[in-house]
Amino acid sequence: MNYPGRFPLARPRRLRQADWVRRLVRETTLSPDDLIWALVVHDGVEDEIPVAAMPGVARLSVKAAAAAAKRAHALGIPAIAVFPHIDAAKKDARGREAFNPNGLVCAAVRAMKDAAPDVGLMVDVALDPFTDHGHDGLLRDGRIANDETVEALVEQALIQVKAGADIVAPSDMMDGRVGAIRAALEREGCHDTLIMSYAAKYASAFYGPYREAIGSGKLGSGAIDNPGDKRTYQMDAANSDEALREVAMDVAEGADMLLVKPGMPYLDIVARVKQAFGMPTYAFQVSGEYAMLMAAAQNGWLDETRVILESLTAFKRAGADGVVTYFAPKAAEMLG
Ligand code: PBG
Repeated sequence: MNYPGRFPLARPRRLRQADWVRRLVRETTLSPDDLIWALVVHDGVEDEIPVAAMPGVARLSVKAAAAAAKRAHALGIPAIAVFPHIDAAKKDARGREAFNPNGLVCAAVRAMKDAAPDVGLMVDVALDPFTDHGHDGLLRDGRIANDETVEALVEQALIQVKAGADIVAPSDMMDGRVGAIRAALEREGCHDTLIMSYAAKYASAFYGPYREAIGSGKLGSGAIDNPGDKRTYQMDAANSDEALREVAMDVAEGADMLLVKPGMPYLDIVARVKQAFGMPTYAFQVSGEYAMLMAAAQNGWLDETRVILESLTAFKRAGADGVVTYFAPKAAEMLG
């Protein structure tokens, strides 16, 4: 870095005096190409069921999700990440509904691919929408059974890929799952399936509204080593070097793309991961970040348009190649 001269030879404000010069010197740009639309689907008939904690977000029926995929295409959004809200009656301790090839996720993926073949579809690989205890993993004697969970995740991922998913995104934080999924994909001839690893995913209070969105409720029952949370598998918010070790393992195991989650409180992690690995790196602007900005905007305390675009730009500036966000359609409209 060359440092500028001294005042008054250097006057940094010269470069900010008008829109034309601000545009010329702008270092970071934001476009619909940077967006992955986080979208919630449900297995009922209503087209849209609003999520109270996320104003402007609704769970969509499979039919409405297909229409949303067309909308994504029209808006220039490259990909959609699908998250399922499963009827409570279909949940059990093993998350068996996750392996149903005719279940909600597979039905949504098929309908969306059909409606908009050019839009990339990303699916979450994790058991929490399907387990009655709400954990991403399977429990053995009240503890999360890592390797047994990994076998289940492999099965879930293969079913999703057979339904047409382009990117599988393991969000469970079990050890070894990226390698196991990659090996199974290769074995099955799915050489082109992308893995976006939630490589650095933190145990975060910012996921609160998502629990309402997908109906995974409160944790706590029956888990001895998980007193109401996911801290034995998701990362400690205080750690940063550990994120680089997690990423290194996932890259070695065959991840194509990396995700840091949550987003805005973890921009330092995004920057470190991008600098250290130079891999395609994404940030997840999670439900709590969405809720926070929307709540303030609805109270007239923040300018909605400006905070949406500023927050998304911040991810790019930190080094992210793109952002998984519930704001995607709104932001794409603003940018278009
Ligand atoms: C779990 C999963 C979570 C989110 C995506 N996948 C929640 C969690 O880990 O508890 C959160 C998304 C959001 O908050 O927007 N597999």
